[in-house]
Amino acid sequence: MNRPHDIVLFGATGFTGGLTAEYLAAHAGSGTRWALAGRNPAKLEAVRERLAAIDARLKELPLLHADSTDQASLEAVARATRVVITTVGPYLVHGEPLVAACARAGTDYVDLTGEPGFVDRMYLRHHEQARRTGARIVHACGFDSIPHDLGVLYTVQRLPEGVPLRVEGFVRADARFSGGTLHSAVEIFSDVPGMVKAERERLGVEPRPEGRRVRLSRRPVPRTRIGGGWTLPMATLDSRIVARSAAALDRYGPDFSYGQFLAVRHLAAAAGVAGGVGAVTALAQLPPTRSLLRRLLPAPGEGPSAEQRARSWFSLKFVGEGGGERVVTEVAGGDPGYGETAKMLAESALCLAHDDLPATSGQVTTAVAMGDALIRRLERAGLAFRVLES
Ligand SMILES: NC(=O)c1ccc[n+]([C@@H]2O[C@H](COP(=O)([O-])OP(=O)(O)OC[C@H]3O[C@@H](n4cnc5c(N)ncnc54)[C@H](OP(=O)(O)O)[C@@H]3O)[C@@H](O)[C@H]2O)c1
Repeated sequence: MNRPHDIVLFGATGFTGGLTAEYLAAHAGSGTRWALAGRNPAKLEAVRERLAAIDARLKELPLLHADSTDQASLEAVARATRVVITTVGPYLVHGEPLVAACARAGTDYVDLTGEPGFVDRMYLRHHEQARRTGARIVHACGFDSIPHDLGVLYTVQRLPEGVPLRVEGFVRADARFSGGTLHSAVEIFSDVPGMVKAERERLGVEPRPEGRRVRLSRRPVPRTRIGGGWTLPMATLDSRIVARSAAALDRYGPDFSYGQFLAVRHLAAAAGVAGGVGAVTALAQLPPTRSLLRRLLPAPGEGPSAEQRARSWFSLKFVGEGGGERVVTEVAGGDPGYGETAKMLAESALCLAHDDLPATSGQVTTAVAMGDALIRRLERAGLAFRVLES
């Protein structure tokens, strides 16, 4: 495509967008023509100065005007590049106009959403157009849901072909959240009925695999299977993404089931997580308590310090079984929410821009759009994908 940029990053003035810009500055290489887009020219200029300290050539990095309330500005960005990265969230509030612009312009799109209702609505409203124009709309290219989606793909590839497979994922992490993430979580919890409706509608129109079955299991399992402790079923976007990859790819076999769990060592921690989620859900229901909740949270733009991020880590263990075989795998890395998320998001965009990938279009998952090519990129970038037992 004859466009001036390979990648445009929208949201670099925010917390995660800033880290993504720094990652691109250090790793995109001179073969990538990239630019920043945002609504505030002075803040964009300040980000560019910071990047020029990493690589002096970035003093000339192009800056584009884009505001999620100005559709024409987003259309112009989508027409000017092959791939758009956006970290402008909450996506339920700011996300749709850019997805629409990319679907119309045939531009590849990656984001960091963890909002299931947003992904389902974008499927219902823009998937068909993106298929027609050839745009690959790839949501959830951060900790939600890359380690889960690619970790399950990696596990399935180590089990026999053509037999029923069962995979369970166990998530452990020690990390803190940014203001932007917490405000996005309030958006998710404030409209649970809308989210359920959008999922039902998407499931009603999305083609199902012929002659194959894909199931999500929320049955609690003892964590003795991977060394003790307590497990809580996770009804997050990740398992929905895994199910959609399994529906799209024959390699997941004739009857695939997946369950995802938060794994904690002590009962008190499990009770704390369940109580915290319950309290936030309750407070997010009514406008006055929702406003109170927003005031209590860190402001958008704030996030954990470099020292806090350096101490953070995650580990996802997968137990896969099928055809009489069993394999235990792990995907692991540093700070899941920001350091590793910025890496995963930037590498996803670089993968779409530069790698030889299967022909896909419309709303597609990371396993379907990029699969092994993205696993290889992430391994080279320092994330671990490994077999623990086979
Ligand atoms: N799922 C995951 O793994 C994961 C991990 C990290 C983050 N996230 C998600 O990523 C998103 C960003 O998080 P964050 O902490 O980086 O947020 P943030 O610091 O609040 O950054 C938000 C960005 O959006 C921009 N923005 C807001 N309204 C805009 C508008 N109308 N037009 C153009 N730009 C606008 C802001 O620009 P200004 O600077 O001009 O205000 C800023 O650049 C959140 O939705 C969060 O949940 C997800």
